[in-house]
Amino acid sequence: MGLKKISLYVLFIFSFSSSNAQRIAIVGAMPEEIKLLTDTLKQKKIIKKDGLVYYKGKIHTQKVVILKSGIGKVNAAYSTTKLISRFKVSKIIFTGVAGGVHPESYPGDMVVATSVFHHDYAKHLADQYIVRATTNLEGKLNPLYFKSDSLLLLLAKSVISDISFEKINEHKPQVFFGKIATGDVFLSNTEKAKWLYREFDAFATEMEGAALGQIAFQNHIPFLVIRSCSDNANNQAHVDFNEFKKPAADNAIRLVMGILDKM
Ligand code: ADE
Repeated sequence: MGLKKISLYVLFIFSFSSSNAQRIAIVGAMPEEIKLLTDTLKQKKIIKKDGLVYYKGKIHTQKVVILKSGIGKVNAAYSTTKLISRFKVSKIIFTGVAGGVHPESYPGDMVVATSVFHHDYAKHLADQYIVRATTNLEGKLNPLYFKSDSLLLLLAKSVISDISFEKINEHKPQVFFGKIATGDVFLSNTEKAKWLYREFDAFATEMEGAALGQIAFQNHIPFLVIRSCSDNANNQAHVDFNEFKKPAADNAIRLVMGILDKM
């Protein structure tokens, strides 16, 4: 092989491997949940594929790929599957809003998931509703609770005090660490919100986390779900959600950016 051919070959390998280098994926379900991130992204490249829009680039010094999954568990599972088959993803962070179900939480408070689970994967008998573990594609039982990556959890804990979160409804956000309950339900029902806390010790509920967590678990990819409460999943939630979703989504992104900065 001549020198010219060799240099072209090296250049090809280099450009291929650098564009294919490991990235941290950040996923949000709705446009508001990724806007501040895509606005901050440096060296931005947009890739459209399979009905999805990927934003590749850098945040601080980290190579990232940002993706809007769409709302709900099916969209989250589809998007996460496509994401990890297209990119070499080292970790996945989900960022977005949720309904807080912890009795001491206010709209604006944040929940970093220690684990996520499907509250609507269940056996519903005449007098009992039993939430069950899913199985993987080979029929092997998954855990009921998909655990967040311990390193990402530690990082999240370590950066909280450095971040200034926006007040929501005059309330300075507190950050909780706890379980998040996922289901294909926008919950605006005080009794069911109480049930999620009572039965499972859940801190918040949303519509994508466990779907992403299940796909990440089945593919051995570490993940973390960060949610900021736009509402309390109570009878008033559908009103609060519209009022607080934007500032709440931005606060979750602030925490994600704090983590990226420390990595
Ligand atoms: N996302 C934000 N608020 C929610 C709620 N109350 N139920 C489900 N997902 C949510």
